[in-house]
Amino acid sequence: MVDLPQKLARKLDQRREKNAFRHLPDVNHDLIDFSSNDYLGLARSRALFRAADDFLNKTQSFGNGSTGSRLITGNHPLYVTLEKKFCEFHQSESALIFNSGYDANLGFFASVPQRGDIILYDEYIHASIRDGLSLGQGKAIKFRHNSLDDLKNKLNRERAKILENAVVYVVTESIFSMDGDSPDLKLLVDFCEVNNCYLVVDEAHAVGVFGDKGEGLVQQLNLQKRIFARIVTFGKGVGCHGAVVLTSESLKSYLINFARSFIYTTGLSPHSLATIFMAYDELDKKSKAISQLRKNIEFFKIEAERLNLSSRFINSNSAIHCFLVANIDKAKTFSLKLQEGACDVRAILSPTVPEGQERLRICLHSYNTDEEILKMLRLLSVLVS
Ligand SMILES: Cc1ncc(COP(=O)(O)O)c(C=O)c1O
Repeated sequence: MVDLPQKLARKLDQRREKNAFRHLPDVNHDLIDFSSNDYLGLARSRALFRAADDFLNKTQSFGNGSTGSRLITGNHPLYVTLEKKFCEFHQSESALIFNSGYDANLGFFASVPQRGDIILYDEYIHASIRDGLSLGQGKAIKFRHNSLDDLKNKLNRERAKILENAVVYVVTESIFSMDGDSPDLKLLVDFCEVNNCYLVVDEAHAVGVFGDKGEGLVQQLNLQKRIFARIVTFGKGVGCHGAVVLTSESLKSYLINFARSFIYTTGLSPHSLATIFMAYDELDKKSKAISQLRKNIEFFKIEAERLNLSSRFINSNSAIHCFLVANIDKAKTFSLKLQEGACDVRAILSPTVPEGQERLRICLHSYNTDEEILKMLRLLSVLVS
């Protein structure tokens, strides 16, 4: 094979020197799952797998691939059915499906803010949003994590420079993917209304976890009518793949016309669409898995407190709980030791998080038992003692 150019090889060496070299791991299904985003167990559900198959057969929706982009030959009728279902389930005027959350954020943030517009985003925002912003024309400014005060300061500082018809966007996640914590969404919505800002909320880690049927945190707080756009991904609590932007009819039209990650890609296969459809059917029935997940989160928090571990966890009511280790080697060792004890807990290392903020990211699921949760916490307690 042709050798890697030297400057790229040097960058890989630097990663190795920092003990931060990434490689693809083997997936070991024998370990207890504390690392996947399959919060409700839908990705591993045989019933869902069969239901998607039955649905395809019943509706005669055959085809292995979609054959083209949605604007040409790939707009399978199931897309229309699904987008209608999302409008009802998520109480949205309109809905537009993308191939993934990465695509949705890339397309949205690269195309919506225009030259002269300001985007104020939480410093811990997901990489897909940052990538979209870096392709776009607006001026992106970060504010301190979950800090409304810093957001206010940043907006005030920019205000004098804002052009007459510039638009200000505020971007956050309802549940942060690394820390599992949340902004005060109610205050943020009030702030955006008073200051004429367009609020965009990524609900990737909230759907399936918050709300009566897993509709997300925005709907649990009844804020859905007051937000410019929500991004929901299906690869986490919904257990499959793809994403939807929930917004107005007019923004949907805008994205169909200008979001390049929507326009220039092959649509999802009928099987993917059927799986999403049946996963939402399960949510619609008020899946028992949601209440079981909540019980497990509660149990985990009580036991972590009892073992004196709470102070090292970032405060979270979600399925994601982060234990701060603050050292790359230690974080790797802890994760390895937990895996040796049959608990699949992964370390999140720099550069995914800033250097010195390395942590263990513990994901809870509806299918974790009390014994499993206790076992993992006890192992952790021994490691830190
Ligand atoms: C907050 C957030 N937004 C977007 C994405 C991207 O979603 P997807 O995995 O569907 O590309 C992720 C997943 O990593 C995420 O955590």
